[in-house]
Amino acid sequence: MNDACARMADEARAHAGTHTPSTFRTALLAVPGADRDAWLDRVLGLDDIPADSSELPAGCVPYLPCSVDALLAIVDGAGITSDDVVVDIGAGVGRALAIVQRLTGAPGIGIEVQSPLVARALVEVDIRHADVDAIELPVGSVYLLYCPFSGARLQRLLDKLAAVDRPIRIACIDLPLSACHWLTLCAEVGGVAVYANHAR
Ligand SMILES: C[S@@+](CC[C@H](N)C(=O)[O-])C[C@H]1O[C@@H](n2cnc3c(N)ncnc32)[C@H](O)[C@@H]1O
Repeated sequence: MNDACARMADEARAHAGTHTPSTFRTALLAVPGADRDAWLDRVLGLDDIPADSSELPAGCVPYLPCSVDALLAIVDGAGITSDDVVVDIGAGVGRALAIVQRLTGAPGIGIEVQSPLVARALVEVDIRHADVDAIELPVGSVYLLYCPFSGARLQRLLDKLAAVDRPIRIACIDLPLSACHWLTLCAEVGGVAVYANHAR
């Protein structure tokens, strides 16, 4: 990141308390696309992410933060507003939830299996330590899935989501879902796909 972007990040960090979703988006969009991830890490003070731990179950995907541009596509494609509650399945330190919250005002709940990541989680988001496979899903209106796992584990998660009898959207990044009769594809941009269930 060049000095100009670093200054923009420091300014956004200094004004964190006064930003509205609209002013935060304006500040973010002023940053060149290639610098947005480094900019966000600096705004959030995320320069010390713990390494992956042995708690990660076999077949599950290690921590890798979702790109800012994919998260922008989700916010717009899913039409997330402050009335939503966003649940991140495999939330890491809560980076994705933090930017969605700043862009929309929507509160977030994250589930993360690796306790070092939960211990380092950003204070503004609610990150809970659990294996998603072993819990009832938190109540939300938008579920984020940045490929935390695939195969039978993903199918068990989809079965839980299929049983939800209120309107929900499911935002997938780099995670193609095979056709589900209970889901409609609402938006697709690059590797991002947003689905809605039929409980409307
Ligand atoms: C690709 S990263 C995505 C991180 C986060 N969503 C983001 O975009 O910043 C996948 C995350 O899912 C977590 N994870 C994988 N399997 C999990 C499981 N069974 N239960 C809870 N978290 C899991 C990993 O530890 C990792 O932090």
